[in-house]
Amino acid sequence: MGAFDDKVVIVTGAASGIGAATARKFAVEGASVVLVDADRAGVEEVAAQLPGSVAEVADVSDEQQITALIDEVAEELGSLDVLINNAGVVVTGDIGSTTTEQWRKVMAADLDSVFFASRAALPHLKRSRGCIINTSSVSGIRGDWQQAAYDAAKGAVSNLTRAMALDHGADGVRVNAVAPGVVRTGMTEGAFDSEETMAKHVERIPLRRGGEPEDVADVIAFLASDDARFVTGVVLPVDGGVSASNGQPA
Ligand SMILES: NC(=O)c1ccc[n+]([C@@H]2O[C@H](COP(=O)([O-])OP(=O)(O)OC[C@H]3O[C@@H](n4cnc5c(N)ncnc54)[C@H](O)[C@@H]3O)[C@@H](O)[C@H]2O)c1
Repeated sequence: MGAFDDKVVIVTGAASGIGAATARKFAVEGASVVLVDADRAGVEEVAAQLPGSVAEVADVSDEQQITALIDEVAEELGSLDVLINNAGVVVTGDIGSTTTEQWRKVMAADLDSVFFASRAALPHLKRSRGCIINTSSVSGIRGDWQQAAYDAAKGAVSNLTRAMALDHGADGVRVNAVAPGVVRTGMTEGAFDSEETMAKHVERIPLRRGGEPEDVADVIAFLASDDARFVTGVVLPVDGGVSASNGQPA
C-alpha cells in the first residue's frame, strides 16, 4: 500500500530538479502522477521512468493552456487530489538592471502560474477535499541581494498560499508551501559547480550542506499526506536552518 494509492497528483516543473524528484516520490507512493513542463524532451524522459504517470507539455504561465489541461486531467482520470505548483524561473539583478521583459517573465512563470492553476483546480479539489502545495522559496520569506524580481514573485506566492488557505479551508481544501533554501537543480547548477560559492552558502547553513531535490520532495509529500490533515496556510522552510538566522554573522 502506498500513501497516495488512487490519488491523482499534478506536478508542474516536473522535467527537472525538485519537480522531477517530487513526481518520483508520489509515483513510488502509488499516485497517478501528471508531470507538466514546457520542456517536452525532459518531461517525457522523467515520466517514462515512472509507471502510472503521464507527461503533459504546457506553459504554466499561459492561462488557457493550464486551465484546459487541469480540467482535462480531472475529467479523464476521474478526480484531482493534489496540485503541486512548482515550475519556476529565476532572473538575477536589482531593479535597475532588471528589464521589463525579465520582470514579466518571472512574474508570469513564478506567480501568475500559481494563480491560474490553483483557480482551475479549485472546483476539482473541493470535490476531492484535496490540497495545493506551492514551491515558494526562502526568497519568499526574506530578501536576497540581486534577485529583485524573484523575491517579489516568491513573496507573493507565500502570501497567496496563506490567502488561499484562509478562503478555502471551510471547503476542506488545504493550501501550503515549501520554502527551499539552495538546492542542487538545473536552476542552481552554477552555484553547486563553484566551490567558492558553495562554501559561502554552507557557512550560513546550520546543517552544513546544500539541499538535494529529494529533501524538498519528501516535505511536499508530507504536506500532501493525511499526516498533515490539520496543517494549512504554512510556508515551511526546507533550508537546512538558514532562515533561522537573523542575518548576523556567526
Ligand atoms: N533550486 C533551488 O535552490 C530553489 C530554491 C528555492 C526555490 N526553488 C523553486 O523550486 C522550483 C523548482 O525549481 P528547480 O530548482 O527544481 O529548478 P529547475 O530549473 O531544475 O526546474 C524548473 C522546471 O520548471 C520548468 N518551467 C519553468 N518555467 C515554466 C513554464 N512557464 N511552464 C512550464 N514549465 C516551466 C522548467 O522547464 C524546469 O523543468 C521553482 O519554483 C524554484 O523557484 C528552487
